[in-house]
Amino acid sequence: MGKVTIDNKTSVYPMPAFLIGANVDGKPNFMTAAWSGIAGGEPPVVTVGIRPTRYTLKGIRQNMTFSVNVPSVDLVKEADYCGIESGSKIDKVAVCKFKVFYGKLETAPLIEQCPVNLECRVMHMLDVGSHILVVGRIEEVYASEECLTDGKPDVDKIKPITYVTDPARHYQALGEYIGKAFGIGLELRS
Ligand SMILES: Cc1cc2nc3c(=O)[nH]c(=O)nc-3n(C[C@H](O)[C@H](O)[C@H](O)COP(=O)(O)O)c2cc1C
Repeated sequence: MGKVTIDNKTSVYPMPAFLIGANVDGKPNFMTAAWSGIAGGEPPVVTVGIRPTRYTLKGIRQNMTFSVNVPSVDLVKEADYCGIESGSKIDKVAVCKFKVFYGKLETAPLIEQCPVNLECRVMHMLDVGSHILVVGRIEEVYASEECLTDGKPDVDKIKPITYVTDPARHYQALGEYIGKAFGIGLELRS
């Protein structure tokens, strides 16, 4: 097996495409983020790497709350748009026709059209160079009823968007089922 070194140092495939929400000067704003993931379970913790120049980060600092909204494939245009335009110049909520609601934290805007919404309180902000790693405790999770099966989130109904990073830079839906987690690996046990 031949290996070569490649330039892109952040090559992970796929990445998520989330919509990060914050109230900036009292108004809801959302930005797309691919550099995000779950960091802990007890308490439940999510992280997002955000450049200091982002308008959304201003709002996160103001309230120390934010949201992580999981768009489905039918929101791909809106998800991309929120990663192109800045809320400092444009009302992205109006352009995208997002229906915004608030949960128990009251200052973290959530998008009704996104099937899953995490409502978060900032635990830490860590300077990691180009980005601020925002570490958030997930205080509440909201899910659209039509995306549940037997009361549990169903990924086939959620239809999340994945982001394929450089050089392709495109969005893809999830692929096919390939095996049971915590199960298929047992076939290698002797
Ligand atoms: C697919 C995609 C992924 C992105 N991921 C991130 C990210 O993880 N962190 C970040 O700071 N910006 C990321 N961006 C860029 C911001 O979403 C973009 O600069 C946005 O306009 C910021 O909006 P705001 O100024 O309203 O906060 C991404 C953009 C796209 C299209």
